[in-house]
Amino acid sequence: MKILGIESSCDETAAAVVEDGKTILSNVVSTQIEEHRKYGGVVPEIASRRHSENIYGVVEKALADANLTIDGIDAVAVTYAPGLIGALLVGTGFAKGLAMASGKPLVPVHHIAGHIASNYIAHHDLKPPYLCLVASGGHSHIVEILDYTKFRVVGRTRDDAAGECFDKVGRVIGFPYPAGKYIDEAAKRGDDKAYKFPHPTVNGSPYDFSFSGLKTNVINLVHNAEQKGIGINADNIAASFQKTVAEILVGKTMLAAEELGYKTIALAGGVSANTGVRSLLQSECDKRGYSLYMPPLSLCGDNAAMIACQGYYDYLDGKRADESLNAIATLSLENI
Ligand code: KG4
Ligand code: ZN
Repeated sequence: MKILGIESSCDETAAAVVEDGKTILSNVVSTQIEEHRKYGGVVPEIASRRHSENIYGVVEKALADANLTIDGIDAVAVTYAPGLIGALLVGTGFAKGLAMASGKPLVPVHHIAGHIASNYIAHHDLKPPYLCLVASGGHSHIVEILDYTKFRVVGRTRDDAAGECFDKVGRVIGFPYPAGKYIDEAAKRGDDKAYKFPHPTVNGSPYDFSFSGLKTNVINLVHNAEQKGIGINADNIAASFQKTVAEILVGKTMLAAEELGYKTIALAGGVSANTGVRSLLQSECDKRGYSLYMPPLSLCGDNAAMIACQGYYDYLDGKRADESLNAIATLSLENI
């Protein structure tokens, strides 16, 4: 079964064709990062306009790269939540029009479920149940994957997402948006013991994250140094900060795995590209004899192959939408 996936929840316009939820026939991503960079973050109105301009060509290329026309597609899957509302509306509107005009079923997909599904494309032996750490620019979750379309969120961030924290810390130490990958590169050159940063916890919710205190701590350190005319070592800050985030994300995931009895762990979301998070999670899983699944770097960030893959499982589960489908800016994984 061939599914056309469409993704436009943030600053990537993407379309892909995936067969049976595992084989990528095409995967087109048009990023707007360069344009948003000069503002230090995504400007929602610009994102919507660019999606509108790009979506036709991106979908056309995804079909052409797969050597297909819309007639060869079995269903259209689209990200309808969560994300920037204006950006989501472009993808859902386009997908609705395409599905209605071609008479193909329309499948609504949750963006985070899509990130989780990226591992099914790369690892055909991965099957629920398992525990997944999802860390992206907008979300930080520890999720029980009960089945392909059934999720229980056991940990969530109370304030900033992990990726957001990377981006804001990166900005203050002089890196362009989105700063995650620049911090990752700088961390390789720096000393991760140079600075001690806090590991904030949430009272009574051991699997929940709080990153805003850590972010403020790093920002204060940089501003204090500037005021005193003391130079900072960006590589050392990056290395120490990245180590702290990795310890927080991985520590809580290991605690949840132990207490909830999971021995199969997965990682997903934009921050899953991070070298420090990947290597710490790998070594902690190895120590405990857990199986670990991580997406290849090409599927860590926003893409539509993951949406087509999750769309396949949602289709099998009977999920369908019609022309009344609306985009939703905030929606829990548990309410889909
Ligand atoms: O999943 P994603 O592409 O978009 C959202 O759904 O939010 O995640 C983007 C986030 C950004 O905050 C970016 O800085 C972060 O992922 N990111 C990284 C790395 N690559 C991307 N963070 C840390 N290390 C990286 N190598
Ligand atoms: Zn994402």
